Amino acid sequence: GAAELGPYRHYMQKEIFEQPKAIADTLDAVPGISPELFGDGAYRIFKEVDRVLILACGTSYYAGSTARYWLESVAGIPTTVEIASEYRYRDSVPDPRTLVVTISQSGETADTLAALKHARSLGMKHTLTICNVATSAMVRECELAYVTRAGVEIGVASTKAFTTQLVALYLLTLALAQVKGRLTDEQEAAELKALRHLPLALQAVLALEPQVIAWSEDFSRKENALFLGRGLHYPIALEGALKLKEISYIHAEAYPAGELKHGPLALVTEQMPVVTVAPNDALLEKLKSNMQEVRARAGQLYVFADADSHIASDTGVHVIRMPEHYGRLSPILHVVPLQLLAYHAACARGTDVDKPRNLAKSVTVE
Ligand code: G6P
Repeated sequence: GAAELGPYRHYMQKEIFEQPKAIADTLDAVPGISPELFGDGAYRIFKEVDRVLILACGTSYYAGSTARYWLESVAGIPTTVEIASEYRYRDSVPDPRTLVVTISQSGETADTLAALKHARSLGMKHTLTICNVATSAMVRECELAYVTRAGVEIGVASTKAFTTQLVALYLLTLALAQVKGRLTDEQEAAELKALRHLPLALQAVLALEPQVIAWSEDFSRKENALFLGRGLHYPIALEGALKLKEISYIHAEAYPAGELKHGPLALVTEQMPVVTVAPNDALLEKLKSNMQEVRARAGQLYVFADADSHIASDTGVHVIRMPEHYGRLSPILHVVPLQLLAYHAACARGTDVDKPRNLAKSVTVE
């Protein structure tokens, strides 16, 4: 009811603003990095595995897609990420030394549960879930579990569950790195410090809301939008596009920016907004040339840059600057203004934000 909503118009907005607390709560249970965070016997299991297979649907799949970059670069573990409804019906080549990781807010998604059973039937017995509901079927079915503490999520479009999943996946990356001898004590201390700074960093990002609202008017009049990102932020671009289409019904598509000239550039005209996730990372110079390709066709750029990205506002180039540069944790921060953009564009269009047409919070049938 209205009392629970407090100052917010919708549950989705409330849940976006609950993210600093959801992450602080999720980290509260973490005294230090250790496999045992994921359950008894995790050390032995992490020793035994040398691959990760992530299975999930929807927003949870994008959390997994982000984690793949972390798992390969930090823990050095070959990782594949599969959409559960594809994996369960596909002929694949199993490797028994695989840690199967399911990601699910509800823990009841039928395809993800079936994909888990499929993986097990192929002989992969080590299973771990990252899940927001301790009493769910998923937690019961898996050998190991990390229960995120996002709290109850009511909005159909997932927000705080996603960012807490990312935190849990980062912890998993560090725990695996530790077992594989790739995390020194100094590195562990630095990583924990960066994680514990997240709630404060998120507060500063949420303070960008008025700037995002100013953009959302433009967006609400569009029927199409492109989202670009590279590397770690490509899955974040995908998640931003998913949020926009789910709740505002604007057709949105995300591309890894380097693929622009292999197709989507044909769609770019002065009518096309192109949302660009542009953190100051190793790929920024490449991304800037992708942005020039958009401007050369008169596309309208809406750029989420870092404090030090050196991207200036100009004709057709709108820039919102993130307060800091967050290194590897950057996806957890950069997704937040995309959630706000989708939310405010949907509000401007007057859609039923918390219950978008044709969608359900938890998909328990195939
Ligand atoms: C539905 C929800 C999404 C969610 C997806 C997977 O499509 O609307 O927000 O990401 O299911 O759900 P799960 O509970 O498995 O994360």
